[in-house]
Amino acid sequence: MSLGTKNKASIIAVIGASGTGKSSYIKGELLKKYTRLIVWSPLEQTDNYASFCGGVVVTKITDLVGQIKKGTKAIVYFPTGSDKEVKTQFDRFCRCVWEVEGAHVLVEELSRVTMASWAPPAWKNLSTAGRHRGLTLIGTSQRPANIDKDFLGNCTEIRCYRVNYDTDAKVMADALGLQTEYGTGKTKAVAIKPQKQLRDLPDFHFFHKNPDLSVRRGVNKSL
Ligand SMILES: Nc1ncnc2c1ncn2[C@@H]1O[C@H](COP(=O)(O)OP(=O)(O)OP(=O)(O)O)[C@@H](O)[C@H]1O
Ligand SMILES: [Mg+2]
Repeated sequence: MSLGTKNKASIIAVIGASGTGKSSYIKGELLKKYTRLIVWSPLEQTDNYASFCGGVVVTKITDLVGQIKKGTKAIVYFPTGSDKEVKTQFDRFCRCVWEVEGAHVLVEELSRVTMASWAPPAWKNLSTAGRHRGLTLIGTSQRPANIDKDFLGNCTEIRCYRVNYDTDAKVMADALGLQTEYGTGKTKAVAIKPQKQLRDLPDFHFFHKNPDLSVRRGVNKSL
């Protein structure tokens, strides 16, 4: 039976340049509680989700299917191979996790597997209808200008740390709906445009768009 849309299922984007605090936020806050967890972890050697969640690491889709069938609580998929092979694996990964109702699904570094104008059909399906399966979907990216352009529009929440390129700042200012900020400088009034606000964020500082579309500013909890 499908869990439908009554769950607190959600789609969360976590965006920001390398080292700005994305994975720390995910581990420290988003994955505090889950019934099942499946992680797409291209940087597993440094991210080490397996030790974080005590999960089983798999590198083949057949093994992922096996672990899902066994009911393993936490599974970490570490993709290997050429870019093309990894993209094929990602499509299959998305098809498999679709079956795991109520799971938390984390995809690290979406820009390796989607592009602004292209994403595997199974990812499109997950990021548009995953909520109806009771899935909590979390996707990260260092370069939001390079990821599937529909994804941010489908998110129930967006957490954005500093981005280092104007193209990325533009995409995020738009997705967050940031307004120009007015303050007083030493001699005259200053206007800070949304793109500059995003490019000037110190490490671990963020803008967060809530499900009710309000946007708050904050700093990661200390580790
Ligand atoms: N609030 C904090 N205070 C101090 N250090 C922090 C804080 N949050 C994260 N860090 C440290 O900063 C480093 C980078 O953080 P994190 O791994 O979360 O970055 P990231 O955005 O996921 O980067 P990448 O895109 O490269 O994966 C880590 O070593 C982490 O321990
Ligand atoms: Mg990270």
